[in-house]
Amino acid sequence: MALILDGKKLRDELLEKLKSELDGYSIMPKLVVILVGDNPASKLYVNNKQKTAEKLGIISEVLTYPDSVTEEELLLKINELNSDISVNAILVQLPLPKHINKYKIINAISPIKDVDGFTPENLGKLLSGEIPYVYPCTPKGIFLLLDKYGISVEGKHVVIVGRSNIVGKPLSAMMLNSNATVTICHSHTKNLKEITKTADILVSAVGRDLIKDDMVRNDAVVVDVGIFKDEFGKTRGDVDFANVSKQVEAISPVPGGVGPMTITSLMLNTVELYKFQNLKKL
Ligand code: GUN
Repeated sequence: MALILDGKKLRDELLEKLKSELDGYSIMPKLVVILVGDNPASKLYVNNKQKTAEKLGIISEVLTYPDSVTEEELLLKINELNSDISVNAILVQLPLPKHINKYKIINAISPIKDVDGFTPENLGKLLSGEIPYVYPCTPKGIFLLLDKYGISVEGKHVVIVGRSNIVGKPLSAMMLNSNATVTICHSHTKNLKEITKTADILVSAVGRDLIKDDMVRNDAVVVDVGIFKDEFGKTRGDVDFANVSKQVEAISPVPGGVGPMTITSLMLNTVELYKFQNLKKL
């Protein structure tokens, strides 16, 4: 049986530490989340983010907009939030409706309030090896989880399945910056199994039943970023946990692995931005 990379336990540890730091603050950090439309998964994520912030004393405001909202309305609001000194962190929940140009919206967020690290300035810094204001939440959470269990990525072959802007692409840059050898696979990749079998660390961020026990080596570390409900309504990840966990070295479960770490990173990022903004004013 593999070592379980327990995201819930690490979340509890990190958030307890963060809470005791925040208890000493006279003015609390503030996070504003923009939620457009009624995507049930997005609503659930935003709800979880808000609940976690509340427990810590972080002020969290959710601005909800109907699907019919215009780009102009969102851009006006983002500009207002950029210049509101009481707001430290801005998150636009993705996906956005098709008629909205997500790049235009993300580009409008001030890089020093960009809590996801998704603006061109922050992603550009990440790619060039400069330190961004914050690191994207899910990749950051994966690093925290690997660090906790003493798993170094240096010199390892890290295979990432999935090339999203939220996980695969920023994670690959962070892995490279940490001296891993990185392969990114996606829906057009031929011989996926042949590649995943060469992974020292396999990260799957696809969102469907994909990784079977014959696709991983016995000494691999497996990080499962996928989360979806199967045909029986059970929450599960990309990896066939029951079988893969019997053979690999370490594995993150779903739920309870990367998910809690993403929210933890969001809280940490909010506080990091708050500190940066307040230091600048001194
Ligand atoms: N949708 C799914 N994951 C994320 C995330 O980390 N940030 C944002 N903004 N939207 C998401």
